[in-house]
Amino acid sequence: MIKPDAVGAGNTGAIIKMIEEAGFKIVAMKKTYMSKERAGQFYAVHKERPFYQDLTNYMSSGPIVPMILEKDNAVEDFRKLIGATNPQDAAEGTIRKLFAKSIEANAIHGSDSDENAEIEGRFFFADVEKF
Ligand code: CMP
Repeated sequence: MIKPDAVGAGNTGAIIKMIEEAGFKIVAMKKTYMSKERAGQFYAVHKERPFYQDLTNYMSSGPIVPMILEKDNAVEDFRKLIGATNPQDAAEGTIRKLFAKSIEANAIHGSDSDENAEIEGRFFFADVEKF
């Protein structure tokens, strides 16, 4: 999911280009928006974290671009492509190093397991939107 800071800065196209050049197939994609309540549902695992309120305010502050991506070893390879959560720790050439503004407004989210990729994909897309 490309986050509000990166969409707002006009970096959607550059990020999609990096994703495709890294060998990912885009199975589903759209530009959409999450209310604060829906952002809270998406990040429910972080409910007890001190940054939860700020995170859900930020994630509902503007449009986002969720995608379902396909590739061998997709979860691990995508996490390598996006880089560390905090852009200060992200490796050179990663999406977060290039485009993230802060540990919160960090340009992009990637699922952390195949199981969560399935859950998060269903959060945004119906089966008829996947090709
Ligand atoms: P993401 O990979 O989408 O998963 C949870 C998000 O919470 C993370 O990216 C950041 O946007 C945010 N986040 C994680 N840690 C912090 C933190 N210490 N302070 C503020 N936001 C954070």
